[in-house]
Amino acid sequence: MIDWHWRRRLAGVRHPRRLAARLKARARHSVAPGPTETAYVLMSLGKWLPRAAKAIILRRIGRMRRRTPATVSSSYDNVRGRVRLADFDEFVFGKPGDPEIVLSDGHIRWRSRTEVRRIEREHVVSVVADACAGIRAPVVLEVGSGTGANLMLLSRRHPHIRAIGLELSPVSVELARRAAASFGLAIEFQEADVSRKLVLDIGQPVDVVFSCHALEQMPDVFSGALDNVLAIAGSEAVFFEPVGECYPKSMRGLVGRLRLIAVDYLNGLHAALVDRGTEITSVRALGFGLTPFNETVEIRVRTVGMDSPGSLGSPRIPRTDQPGI
Ligand SMILES: C[S@@+](CC[C@H](N)C(=O)[O-])C[C@H]1O[C@@H](n2cnc3c(N)ncnc32)[C@H](O)[C@@H]1O
Repeated sequence: MIDWHWRRRLAGVRHPRRLAARLKARARHSVAPGPTETAYVLMSLGKWLPRAAKAIILRRIGRMRRRTPATVSSSYDNVRGRVRLADFDEFVFGKPGDPEIVLSDGHIRWRSRTEVRRIEREHVVSVVADACAGIRAPVVLEVGSGTGANLMLLSRRHPHIRAIGLELSPVSVELARRAAASFGLAIEFQEADVSRKLVLDIGQPVDVVFSCHALEQMPDVFSGALDNVLAIAGSEAVFFEPVGECYPKSMRGLVGRLRLIAVDYLNGLHAALVDRGTEITSVRALGFGLTPFNETVEIRVRTVGMDSPGSLGSPRIPRTDQPGI
């Protein structure tokens, strides 16, 4: 009589694919700081290096299909068309649980994505609120606001802040409006391609403008968005984006940069800010990311007294602060 334990093992031998899937799942679940993290980074180098090389060659010979506002809009319309309204926490942070391989505290590990999303959104909201400190009746604008989750958390925590979201995908704008209404939050969401010249009709100057993983979707057109952000922000602009050039000088940072090239994400945000002569006040790699190599980097730019992009004199390049690495 073979007990169930052995029966499962023998079934694995008879079905090698199932066995391989089980072993792969077990290996994924065991990724944690230490040797398994190192092994994961090395395996990922083997994955992203050839893909990045291929992307560079295809781009050089003009055969790579680039991300454009039209392709981005239709893919987000697709995804967000399937999102159902949930309670506030689930809408803003995601379904409880939802484990995956993520980046948290500067390390790659198997952990709840919901927790990482919570850490990220709370961080974004606290930095934006800090940028508003001392401003009476502040006005905050998010470019690429998606489902509006950041602004909803901001509005709930800081109801005195007027919050406005600009978003490319019409389905996302509709979803964000419905969600804000159902949570009783007075947030304005408008449809706009922020990489093109913007005409804002909001009756008030904007104090703080921020983006969160939105410029990452505009590899070819982000400079238009950057000019808009710098022209609109009366006090400060804050970017929470995967900025490859500010990634740590480590194997993980290198794989991150290769991945950004391969998936055709943002490249050159920090250099573009320096070129425009902006007053960068801080740059920090935050040590978290919903996927292990898409680390969020925070760049804060003081825009007070800036007449137009590039109007300031010589750039101040801050020291990069990279916690947990
Ligand atoms: C990864 S999502 C992030 C959404 C939101 N910022 C957040 O943190 O939850 C990127 C968003 O940027 C928007 N986006 C991309 N290109 C845009 C553009 N040119 N103008 C306005 N929004 C854009 C996308 O439609 C998408 O909703």
